[in-house]
Amino acid sequence: MSPRVLVLLLGVCMLLQYRVEGPQAKSEKGISGSSDDFYGPKTRNKKITPPTKGTKTPVTGHRVSKGTEASQILNTILNNYDHKLRPGIGEKPTVVTVQFSVNSLGPLSTLDMEYTIDIIFYQTWYDERLRYNGTFETLVLNSKVVSQLWIPDTFFRNSKRTQEHTITMPNQMVRIHRDGKVLYTIRMTIDAGCTLHMHRFPMDSHSCPLSFSSFSYPMNEMIYKWEDFKLEINNDNSWKLFQFEFKGMSNKTETLSTPAGDFMVMTFIFNISRQFGYVTFQNYVPSSVTTMLSWVSFWIKKDSAAARTSLGVTSVLTMTTLGTFSRKNFPPVSYVTALDFYLAICFVFCFCALTEFAVLNFLMYNKMKTQASPNLRHSRFRARAQARARAHARKLRKAPVCTIINMEGNDGAGESSHPGSSQRSKPICCKWLKGCKNYFCVIPNCKGSTWQQGHVCIHIYRLDDYSRYFFPLAFFFFNVFYWLVFLYF
Ligand SMILES: *[C@@H]1O[C@H](CO)[C@@H](O)[C@H](O)[C@H]1NC(C)=O
Ligand SMILES: *[C@@H]1O[C@H](CO)[C@@H](O)[C@H](O)[C@H]1NC(C)=O
Ligand SMILES: *[C@@H]1O[C@H](CO)[C@@H](O)[C@H](O)[C@H]1NC(C)=O
Repeated sequence: MSPRVLVLLLGVCMLLQYRVEGPQAKSEKGISGSSDDFYGPKTRNKKITPPTKGTKTPVTGHRVSKGTEASQILNTILNNYDHKLRPGIGEKPTVVTVQFSVNSLGPLSTLDMEYTIDIIFYQTWYDERLRYNGTFETLVLNSKVVSQLWIPDTFFRNSKRTQEHTITMPNQMVRIHRDGKVLYTIRMTIDAGCTLHMHRFPMDSHSCPLSFSSFSYPMNEMIYKWEDFKLEINNDNSWKLFQFEFKGMSNKTETLSTPAGDFMVMTFIFNISRQFGYVTFQNYVPSSVTTMLSWVSFWIKKDSAAARTSLGVTSVLTMTTLGTFSRKNFPPVSYVTALDFYLAICFVFCFCALTEFAVLNFLMYNKMKTQASPNLRHSRFRARAQARARAHARKLRKAPVCTIINMEGNDGAGESSHPGSSQRSKPICCKWLKGCKNYFCVIPNCKGSTWQQGHVCIHIYRLDDYSRYFFPLAFFFFNVFYWLVFLYF
């Protein structure tokens, strides 16, 4: 190995030696070799460099003559130039044509209601004082000349912070054409305000403006014109919109009346809309799953109060947490957003699932108590109540009554625990709520005295059976309605 490397090194040295001796003879041979031998000797013995410079003297001389011409032109045009005065002052308004190039858009901060945009801003106008004759078609100049020329005092009306880039030199450029056309280019990063209407959050889309106008010249002094703008959308690398998607942009021109005069205000509008994935996994999926979890209670035995209560309370608390969590990183807007609405409905579902058990438990307990201790109630009062109920039922024969019937015969658990209950034909509830007699009456037999033909027969012990169908169906229809409304209208 090492001998071979040595031989190789020796060969390379000899080759270099040979080429230093006769560079002109062999310089054309080999692409990589030629570049090597061009730079190799130069670094090794710097005394060879002056001759190469010497060969280039005609080129440099030509450049110098061009340079003198350019500086002569510059000196001529800037000699009597007053950069304090706009071109065409007192004659006609200056027409400034604007063009944009967006380097990056975003991020959009919903909390501060602003967005960041990095642009290169092109302004073109004609300045007759800068006309020149000569071989130059265009003078390309950097930021050093900017202070010696008249530049439009354009400012961004909705900017909160503007940063000009000065590394390595101020990111500005001036081009003066032979006919006096001036192109001024500047790169800047702007944090611009954007009012966000979040009613449809997270299905929201926004129009973020970037408006600019002259600070001192009103419309009769200076007017702006749009030039065809081309926007390079390279979403993949440099646009930092994260959960937003760029939808398009438009432009508009307005006139703004101020005490200082009427100004021409030009506005770019960036349309962006929120991409759905992030919020879905953060909010919609957990809240839906929690709501569904609360229905598990309907499949648990009626007498396991601990299990059913804790399940209900846990789901209600989870929904509360999710609701609070969804408002984090969110501007404290006072209105209800689409997500808030969804979470509120999920909360109501969880709450109803808990309440269903409370109602069921209460009715069962209430019934049990009255049946277990009949002596507690005064017999005369009971008889009167019974008579009143019967009379009332007769009176309301035609009323649309929804009667809850406790059919103990169909419920094995109820019958086994209270064997004597079927003998009683007494309305049990309707004592705590006035008028509820019309709707809720728990009696043992459907064909009893207060039952009327055509009324809905609701078995109190079957509340769970009904809930097993009612809750999922209601949630399903709510979802269909919700997504139709918010995605398509
Ligand atoms: C340019 O040359 C034309 C004639 O060739 C002359 O009329 C004009 O005044 C010159 N302009 C300047 C700025 O020297
Ligand atoms: C928008 O810009 C185009 C040039 O790209 C221009 O023709 C049009 O008039 C502008 N629209 C408004 C409303 O200013
Ligand atoms: C941007 O949104 C506004 C209002 O939301 C709409 O009028 C305009 O047509 C949209 N422009 C584009 C390019 O999508």
